[in-house]
Amino acid sequence: MPNPRYTLAILGGTGNEGPGLALRWAQIGHKVIIGSRQAEKGERVAAEINARLGAEWVTGMTNEDAARACEVAVLTVPYAAQNPLLENLKDLLQGKVLINVTVAMQPPKVARAYIPPEGSACEQAQALLGPDVRVVAAFQNVGAHNLEDPEHPLDCDVLICGDNKEAKGIAIGLAEDLGTRGIDAGPLVNAKVIEGLTSVLIGINIRYKIPGAGIRITGLPA
Ligand SMILES: NC(=O)c1ccc[n+]([C@@H]2O[C@H](COP(=O)([O-])OP(=O)(O)OC[C@H]3O[C@@H](n4cnc5c(N)ncnc54)[C@H](OP(=O)(O)O)[C@@H]3O)[C@@H](O)[C@H]2O)c1
Repeated sequence: MPNPRYTLAILGGTGNEGPGLALRWAQIGHKVIIGSRQAEKGERVAAEINARLGAEWVTGMTNEDAARACEVAVLTVPYAAQNPLLENLKDLLQGKVLINVTVAMQPPKVARAYIPPEGSACEQAQALLGPDVRVVAAFQNVGAHNLEDPEHPLDCDVLICGDNKEAKGIAIGLAEDLGTRGIDAGPLVNAKVIEGLTSVLIGINIRYKIPGAGIRITGLPA
């Protein structure tokens, strides 16, 4: 049976990571909204994705309108932007699932794992939004380069952390919809490891001169 289809808002979806996720999820039947600080920028990026899809499946709007309209929100903004943006959207996200792709980092040292005093960007998001927003950490280890070409199959796994089983199940389904395995990696407190792995992968990309290192878990049943 196919996974459920959702209205997804990709908040900050106009950058590197958002459009690839949007294109792949729209292609398999999710209704995708690109959120931006400027409605026109969200509309422009949505139009670019639709041109690639050859269909009008993606819309663009402000982050506020996208958060209001969605069933499931996906956050793809730089770490420094996360908390101010979530403060603005807090009321609109109550009762919803927030899948957070954001990674705690201290530019320019992006290849060094950074653990903030609060543990991780995802734990900060959960604390800020309160218990009625179910925050899930996912897709932090899937590089934008790997998402760009929808004909290119993803051969990595997606580690998923969160404190709500149903919300984690939604993220696992969305990972499967990308053609990957979504793996339950435990409670949200483990997000610091997932986020830290992103810096490890960036360092591997630099040292081995490759565009998109990923991770894969062995030992699981096929
Ligand atoms: N790029 C990757 O390969 C990758 C892989 C895994 C995880 N991640 C993580 O995913 C997140 C997004 O990465 P990205 O490369 O897509 O980032 P990005 O391209 O630098 O930024 C994404 C979007 O965030 C919005 N934004 C920027 N500054 C903002 C601010 N001060 N307030 C509100 N919104 C702001 C912008 O959208 P508008 O101007 O339209 O508002 C921008 O297009 C980061 O936390 C990153 O660590 C990235």
